[in-house]
Amino acid sequence: MIRLARNDDLFQLQDIEKAAGEAFRALGMDSVADDEPLTIDQLRTYVAGARSWVHADGLDFAVAYILVDIVDGNAHVEQVSVHPEQAHQGLGSELLDAARIWARGHGMQRQTLSTFRDVPWNAPYYRRLGFEDFDAGSWGPELRRLMEHEAELGLTRWPRVAMQRPAVPPG
Ligand SMILES: CC(C)(COP(=O)(O)OP(=O)(O)OC[C@H]1O[C@@H](n2cnc3c(N)ncnc32)[C@H](O)[C@@H]1OP(=O)(O)O)[C@@H](O)C(=O)NCCC(=O)NCCS
Repeated sequence: MIRLARNDDLFQLQDIEKAAGEAFRALGMDSVADDEPLTIDQLRTYVAGARSWVHADGLDFAVAYILVDIVDGNAHVEQVSVHPEQAHQGLGSELLDAARIWARGHGMQRQTLSTFRDVPWNAPYYRRLGFEDFDAGSWGPELRRLMEHEAELGLTRWPRVAMQRPAVPPG
């Protein structure tokens, strides 16, 4: 079941991110796996803004989550993570769809994100879900700043790409 994240989920969200990040080690991206999850205070701002959703199991325990920012007026996926024990069941795709419905309900044009171009469960995965490359020439100032910040953090050691899909699925 998808529901809004609550403050009592936040330690679990950190655990999900750490567990999901382990997959990057297989590609030699240990620094990504070792990245500290967002702090409880940072996560709390998503709860307060009602911009974070979880997939909860039968005991109402969060097993996957998504965080959304508003970037240049678009719904920008800050993070989507699924606990590896619950992977490959479509939970990630359902959370992305839920956030897309929210974006549409708020009159936004696009769902955007930035991700690793060559990691199989990153850009190729999003492409299968209808995301396309978002060319730098079309970025607004906030997305540009965000991409520059990622470069400052050293994330661009592996190629990054911005992607977008329309908030209203093409019919
Ligand atoms: C990316 C992620 C959110 C997908 O969640 P999910 O619920 O497992 O995804 P879905 O069930 O919707 O789709 C599964 C598909 O994703 C791809 N995928 C997921 N994990 C994969 C992996 N380790 N290697 C290759 N492809 C993978 C496959 O195409 C898979 O299809 P399959 O189940 O038929 O093999 C999840 O793998 C995750 O949390 N990864 C680590 C964190 C991360 O990279 N987040 C995105 C940062 S931009």
